[in-house]
Amino acid sequence: MPELKPEQRVRDILVTSALPYANGSLHLGHLLEQVQTDIWVRFQKSRGHNCTYVCADDAHGTAIMLIAEQLGISPEQQIEQMHAEHLRDSNDFLIGFDNFHSTHTEENRFFSEQIYTRLRDNGHIVQREITQAFDPERQLFLSDRYIKGSCPRCKTADQYGDNCEACGATYSPADLIDPVSVLSGAAPIEKKSVHYFFTLPAFTEMLREWTNSGTLQTQIANKLKEWLDAGLKEWDISRDTPYFGFEIPDAPGKYFYVWLDAPIGYMASHKNLCERDGVDFDSYWSTDSKAELYHFIGKDIINFHGLFWPAILSSADYRTPTAIYTHGFLTVNGTKMSKSRGTFIKARTYLEHLDAEYLRYYFAAKLNGSVDDIDLNLEDFVQRVNSDVVGKVVNIASRCAGFLRKQFDNTLTESCAEEALLADFIAAGDGIAELYEQREFGKAIREIIALADRANQYIDEKKPWVLAKQEGAEAEVHAVCSMGINLFRVLMVYLKPVLPAMAEKSEAFLQGGLDWDQRLQPLQGHRIAKFKPLMTRIETQQVEAVVAASREEQAQAESAKAPVEETSVEENKPVSNIIEYDDFAKVELRIAEIIAAEPVQGADKLLQLTLNLGDSQRQVFAGIKEAYPDPARLVGKLTVCVANLAPRKMRFGVSEGMVLAAGPGGSDIYLLEPHPGATPGMRVK
Ligand code: 2FM
Ligand code: ZN
Repeated sequence: MPELKPEQRVRDILVTSALPYANGSLHLGHLLEQVQTDIWVRFQKSRGHNCTYVCADDAHGTAIMLIAEQLGISPEQQIEQMHAEHLRDSNDFLIGFDNFHSTHTEENRFFSEQIYTRLRDNGHIVQREITQAFDPERQLFLSDRYIKGSCPRCKTADQYGDNCEACGATYSPADLIDPVSVLSGAAPIEKKSVHYFFTLPAFTEMLREWTNSGTLQTQIANKLKEWLDAGLKEWDISRDTPYFGFEIPDAPGKYFYVWLDAPIGYMASHKNLCERDGVDFDSYWSTDSKAELYHFIGKDIINFHGLFWPAILSSADYRTPTAIYTHGFLTVNGTKMSKSRGTFIKARTYLEHLDAEYLRYYFAAKLNGSVDDIDLNLEDFVQRVNSDVVGKVVNIASRCAGFLRKQFDNTLTESCAEEALLADFIAAGDGIAELYEQREFGKAIREIIALADRANQYIDEKKPWVLAKQEGAEAEVHAVCSMGINLFRVLMVYLKPVLPAMAEKSEAFLQGGLDWDQRLQPLQGHRIAKFKPLMTRIETQQVEAVVAASREEQAQAESAKAPVEETSVEENKPVSNIIEYDDFAKVELRIAEIIAAEPVQGADKLLQLTLNLGDSQRQVFAGIKEAYPDPARLVGKLTVCVANLAPRKMRFGVSEGMVLAAGPGGSDIYLLEPHPGATPGMRVK
């Protein structure tokens, strides 16, 4: 057996994952990150390090204020409910937070005010008057996402304030044609107000050094270098009332922008834990701290963590992170999670049908240290978990346990039969540990499963089920099965960070712990407990049920949303919406046969339809893709087309008309279809 290694230095490690917004439920995208972080943290803990994992809800901002208003509750009630829901979901996915706090807490107010005051006193806050869109009815400033209008380039209606989904143009909301506030339907006016800015450009050199010090993955460091080379801009950290957040101490009516106090929430959550457990907070956060600090995040929020956050920490005299660990997005079956396809899956919906550890295993098998996207392929998911975990790992224990119970009173042999094989298993731990440390979980899993294959091969060769029937072969059956159990035990040490519940059941079965170094001492002359099933196979129907339930949730959400939106638009509809009879008479509606229907590359919502109007063909781009994810099914159907609309040039081609559809939009929209008897080209009257 290998010598026990000298005790490693115990590291103090503080780890975070991004704070979920308190405006919605957790979905599998959140879980990808939490599972990645949790595996890494559990691995560090298993190795004996003092590793702490904190997170919190991101509780501030306009969205939360508006959602609470819509639900008829206070923002405080909204964030309290979400906090309970998020915590329950994460717990059920076996995410082992040491603390899950909130940004709407006294600790966070304290640090936000303290940090702001330090920035200001250091001359890193400046005030400037800016002009912004303002909703005159709701009396609030509108960020880009709350303004809609027609695209200034391609004229497509109903586009958000910063970019057009039809032609891809980016612009400022002031450029939109006929802009309206999404909240009230009123036309926004321009209004001036004083904002507070953090002087980010002053930190250019500091950030250049920090991003080059091995703190970031290469792709991320390159991205930040691009931004640094292009020149940094001052960062607007204030928002005007009404806003749900913390008021800026010396600026009544001005609030900290949610992204200022969100990362400070990492500190607040940690402070809360330190007070609870009697830990020295400063030893983690002071500039001379020896502790390590890691933030796990998605690639969409790298600017906040790679630029603003280290700059702010440095101005406020706190240490900067040891590293930012960035992951890619989660795709399902190769594409963006889609509500209409039922692949936008909420954490709870998954849990209602499937075991958390299936997904933890699958994510682990796919995760790596890069920022590449991770795909959850639902077929592969079923196959992989069943084959690897149930078919290979659990199988080792289940095929040995029966003989040990029946013939040997659940007691293992005094020595190991195949020392070299067990030594190989144990020695593999160093390489696997390095892979875990580097977040190369997929590679670690491959090595572990290759070991499981070897263990099964060993048992297959020895055939204890044959030996058991032979006279005088008891000792060999005992030796083989004891060996099998020891091999299984080492594998479970390696899998414990990924499968903590299965590891706990295995610990009860093995009557011993599964921490990293415990693998060094084999179980000899040791009594184990009765074997109980450790994991059952996934049935395809369970996965289908998750997809069906997700689709159903979406349909319900759309129909629940529709009346609210309709009322608010209705109430604010300008009277000029009424058109004269003669104007309507000009509209030429015709029956059209859809002869081809295809998705448009690069446009999330558009289908390209080819229409037969009896005497001519038309090409029309229609924003109905979410409702018709399988456009081929439209071919051969009749619908109604506006035939005398002026052709409109779009990024993807010219649209020569419009088809008529009913519904609020998104996946909840339905093409009109005439009764039987209508033929292509017929005039609709
Ligand atoms: O992108 C988000 O979901 C944010 N709520 C993440 C915040 S992470 C941190 F900075 F607080
Ligand atoms: Zn456009």
